[in-house]
Amino acid sequence: MSDSYENAEIEVEMERTEFMGREYQTWSVEQNVYKVPIDDEEEDRLEEEHAIISGFFSTTGEDRLYFAPLTRPKNILECGYGRGHWAIAIANQFPDSTVCGVDINWEALPEEPENLVLEWANLNKNITSKSKSGELQQGKFDYIHSRFIAFGLREKRWPSYVKELRSLVKRGGYVEFVEYDFLFQSDSGWCGYDPKQFAIGQLSDYVRDWQTRYHSSDARASTKLATLMGDAGYKNVVSGMYQVPIGSWGDSEHHRYWGERNKNNTKRLLESFALWPLSEFGWPDSEATVRSLITRAQQDLDNPHLRLYIRL
Ligand SMILES: C[S@@+](CC[C@H](N)C(=O)[O-])C[C@H]1O[C@@H](n2cnc3c(N)ncnc32)[C@H](O)[C@@H]1O
Repeated sequence: MSDSYENAEIEVEMERTEFMGREYQTWSVEQNVYKVPIDDEEEDRLEEEHAIISGFFSTTGEDRLYFAPLTRPKNILECGYGRGHWAIAIANQFPDSTVCGVDINWEALPEEPENLVLEWANLNKNITSKSKSGELQQGKFDYIHSRFIAFGLREKRWPSYVKELRSLVKRGGYVEFVEYDFLFQSDSGWCGYDPKQFAIGQLSDYVRDWQTRYHSSDARASTKLATLMGDAGYKNVVSGMYQVPIGSWGDSEHHRYWGERNKNNTKRLLESFALWPLSEFGWPDSEATVRSLITRAQQDLDNPHLRLYIRL
């Protein structure tokens, strides 16, 4: 961790708040930035999610950390490093590189390779001018990775965020965005029913509605990224929308294996991503109602007829 941890302001930002049995970053919930837990349970879930994404997209048997044709990147930036699973893996894969990770939850990681530098940054603001370590310089990075930060980024910030990352990347470098389209889909067409008849459809509708009405973030940012990158002047934009299975269905062993692991992880994700948002609707008997909806949505993931997936 860089030695800019002298700042009392940052110590306040590390305080935690308990809510419905989970721990949140106090600063983040007060500022309405990121209303997802930051406790051990979420750390564990993020580790498993990282394993699922790296394993599902692997074509070689080795974890796949990126899609860009990287050779020997010198400077790498990880936006919203979470518990550092991707940042540590890439730092170990390219030991001659320097990896800079930024996050609002700026806590030391259990393992920090020597070539990893961590810095506090709020991605909703311009990060280049705020860099305390001096790591975030224009035109510095060979590769920038931004994964699963849409729940903490304002919808209106996306265009300038995409543009700012373009200014941070070196000429000829790469920027990669990875986000879920937070709309659960059924490969069997919801068995002829309307998704709203299923708790999983209702839950994701409510969370998207909360994002628009209470949080100003964009659950469907992933569908707009290619356009945003084109508008920001990126060259050779390649975009892909992949279906990640939820449950053990599909033709290949690979698909079924990762689908099963992703189902278990998605059950945990539903609690992490829905607990606080659903509570803000102020429903009568709120906690019981919220918990019941989450439990019923989790049960839908076990329905083999739905053949669920999420797009990435
Ligand atoms: C779902 S986790 C993903 C972590 C990591 N990118 C991964 O894929 O494993 C989201 C992370 O983004 C961070 N985050 C959310 N909003 C942010 C913001 N506005 N600025 C900086 N970090 C943010 C959170 O603190 C959290 O660590």
